[in-house]
Amino acid sequence: MVALFDPTEYKINSKANWNAVAPDYHYNWANKHAGPFKSTVEVVNLAEINPSDKVLDIACGTGAVSTEIFRRLDKTGLLVGIDLSRTALHIAKKTMSLPNANFFEMDAENLGFNFVFDKILCQYGLMFFPNVNKVLETARKILKHNGRIVFAVHGLAEDVPYFSSIMSPILKYIPDIRPKGVPTVHRFGNTGDLQKELERAGFSNVSITKHVFSYEAGTFEEYWHDYMHSTANSIRPKIESMGENIRSQIKHDSLQNTVRYTKDGKITFPWTVLTALAHNT
Ligand SMILES: C[S@@+](CC[C@H](N)C(=O)[O-])C[C@H]1O[C@@H](n2cnc3c(N)ncnc32)[C@H](O)[C@@H]1O
Repeated sequence: MVALFDPTEYKINSKANWNAVAPDYHYNWANKHAGPFKSTVEVVNLAEINPSDKVLDIACGTGAVSTEIFRRLDKTGLLVGIDLSRTALHIAKKTMSLPNANFFEMDAENLGFNFVFDKILCQYGLMFFPNVNKVLETARKILKHNGRIVFAVHGLAEDVPYFSSIMSPILKYIPDIRPKGVPTVHRFGNTGDLQKELERAGFSNVSITKHVFSYEAGTFEEYWHDYMHSTANSIRPKIESMGENIRSQIKHDSLQNTVRYTKDGKITFPWTVLTALAHNT
């Protein structure tokens, strides 16, 4: 029987998982501006940061967006980054140990601020929050009147084959690998869904842009190893516990799924990303 999604258990696991993968995530992806992280500068540009702005980076992770924000602030500006993962925050803090850059371990569903920000940003975080409406409604309350909020989210499964080439076979052979109703990375990959969610929370003038970046994943073996130790890190023990036969079938089907993206033995995936800009009017 497929287990039902439990938001508290999900967050505890998510925190442990991000603590485990944060260094690899930072040095191999976010800090390199690899694949989807070509959006980092784009997201910060959309926020139109002024040097004296007070800026909140929700689910700041290891600080990819925060670094870019901080470059645009002067001493009168303030950067606050929040995230569930202490290991990720530690990496962010190392890069920006300055009085006006602050990083807190905080759940996005419990934003505890009693002042308002000029700008709020959240790159590749929204899809992980079980109660997105709660996050957005609170974000609106702590965003200045006429302030800007900016998001980046991944596209739909078929538009992000880095995720789906391996995840589809995993779901085919181990359908109960994830609890029923668990948030997926593709949750806001549909422009209309993202727009509706932002408007439901009271934001206006929502504009969403689709970007197609590319990601060089290397050989299939390199891709498989990277995926199993990053995206699939938390479910890897379950995959391994299913035995060699199932694992080989998943790997075989995954390889087939990558053929169309492979040239001279190397995989280059397209990677669709949506950026959203909204206002608090
Ligand atoms: C894909 S990373 C994005 C990090 C960063 N924004 C970036 O662009 O590199 C997702 C981050 O969301 C954080 N996260 C997940 N659920 C969260 C929650 N409920 N509250 C705060 N952070 C959360 C994770 O710890 C992780 O650092």
